[in-house]
Amino acid sequence: MGSLARSESGLPIQPVYDAGTPAGFDANAKLGAPGRFPFTRGVYPSMYTGRPWTMRQYAGFGTAKESNERYHELVGAGTGGLSVAFDLPTQMGYDSDEAIAQGEVGKVGVAIDSIQDMRTLFRGLPLDKVSTSMTINAPASTLLLLYQLVAAEQGVPGDLLTGTIQNDVLKEYIARGTYIFPPKQSLRLISDIFAYCHRELPRWNTISISGYHMAEAGATPAQEIAFTLANAREYVRAALAAGLDVDDFAPRLSFFFVARTTLLEEVAKFRAARRIWARVMREEFGARNPKSQMLRFHTQTAGVQLTAQQPEVNLVRVALQGLGAVLGGTQSLHTNSYDEAIALPTQKAARLALRTQQVIAYETDVTKTVDPFAGSYFMESMTDEIEAAVLELMQAVEDRGGAVAAIEQGFQKSEIERSAYLISQEIDNKERTVVGVNTFVLDEEEPYEPLRVDPQIEFDQRERLAALRRDRDNDALERALDALRTAAQGTENVLPAIREALRGHATVGEVSHALRDVWGVHVPHDTF
Ligand code: 3HC
Repeated sequence: MGSLARSESGLPIQPVYDAGTPAGFDANAKLGAPGRFPFTRGVYPSMYTGRPWTMRQYAGFGTAKESNERYHELVGAGTGGLSVAFDLPTQMGYDSDEAIAQGEVGKVGVAIDSIQDMRTLFRGLPLDKVSTSMTINAPASTLLLLYQLVAAEQGVPGDLLTGTIQNDVLKEYIARGTYIFPPKQSLRLISDIFAYCHRELPRWNTISISGYHMAEAGATPAQEIAFTLANAREYVRAALAAGLDVDDFAPRLSFFFVARTTLLEEVAKFRAARRIWARVMREEFGARNPKSQMLRFHTQTAGVQLTAQQPEVNLVRVALQGLGAVLGGTQSLHTNSYDEAIALPTQKAARLALRTQQVIAYETDVTKTVDPFAGSYFMESMTDEIEAAVLELMQAVEDRGGAVAAIEQGFQKSEIERSAYLISQEIDNKERTVVGVNTFVLDEEEPYEPLRVDPQIEFDQRERLAALRRDRDNDALERALDALRTAAQGTENVLPAIREALRGHATVGEVSHALRDVWGVHVPHDTF
């Protein structure tokens, strides 16, 4: 008989599973009921039979005005929650009129420099009703406070605001790179956000601990979960060291994973992740509130598996990936547009991406029962196997001194780079089929007209910034920035000082520079 098939995590897949697998399976201990510890079957008792997942399409480009128009379109088309994409200067804590921002303003997301842009971004959107995710990391506190200030102007108090900031800087040191400050100061700022939100924004999800970007960089499913949960462990430890009580902040931790086309393993991956995290929170950190033990997560379908060749084939991939996320119990889902491997999604492609979720939610029967694969010989075996592989990798990170120490040794990055290299080799030698790319190819690709970003955007944004700097009370602003530097030098929570500076029309760049003045910036070692 030929060699056994292998999963994306390198685990063997038997051709047939039967009553003997997994050996000695104890459903009560391993699964629990849906909504009960260890949450293998899902975090809520009723899951989608009670409420479908949130259809949360990541969007944002150009100016706040254009993105605001896209958000109104998405809400009109039935999306359940907003998800803001910021341009790189905003993500890196620079202003649109800084030299380093040239050519990037409004490109991969919306340019937000000040409270004025934030007002425009959410104009006409009821912030007491929509939940808003913001994909922002190093300057997450600044964008969150701008959101709170704009909501307050709409008359919406902090305790009604729902949403998420990604705020997961550790994965930025491993993959993607939108970090600013050194790890120690980043962890301090993240703990300050946990404390501030517990007090002022109790329904806000303070972090979205992400495996997605590591998966996009090549991590296997087991590596994706293991390195994400290792980072999560580091955040919990930092918050506890800052004097917070675990049940005060843990209920508002959230997660973000990828959904690959290999959907069976992905379902097992999500089930294993919930079980591992529930046990870590209860047994290692003594969390007593069940909400502290629940791994609630957002999923995005795998961008790296989209092809530029025969782009319509991506509609099928995204449908299968979205189905896997739902069968795995996701709380919120972004389905990629079929043309994203080529350019920013056209409006039609973005609508088709949302329609894909709506077909899964309203035309299939997957919302009619909870965790339908439970008890499957294959699924329970694969869930156990992934759990074991994840725990082994989490221990390897612990053996190196925890996530930050392992990052400084380059451990996670080198493990992911090795996986990425193996995948590219398999594609090149056709061991791994990619339809339209190395198999079933066209002699000549059909024409495609991409969406183009108007270069006028950068000029307009700079004009708005010049007016803001001219019209504000710059003496009061300097005093507010000095107060922020003083707070950053001390141990008090820095968010109130950031909020007052923003209220006085400080820009995202000015707040970030004030913190750079005190905390310095992270300089990657050669092993980073
Ligand atoms: N039974 C009982 N209650 C239920 C329920 C059920 N079946 N289903 C939902 N609920 C309740 C929940 O308890 C919650 O109430 P609460 O806030 O009072 O606890 C409410 O209904 C909303 O449900 P969820 O919290 O499950 O759903 P949300 O959509 O509000 O939140 C999340 C989901 C994962 C917890 C949250 O963190 C989130 O929305 N994350 C999104 C992150 C995101 O969009 N990231 C984009 C990244 S893009 C990127 O990184 C860049 C690109 O390059 C990839």
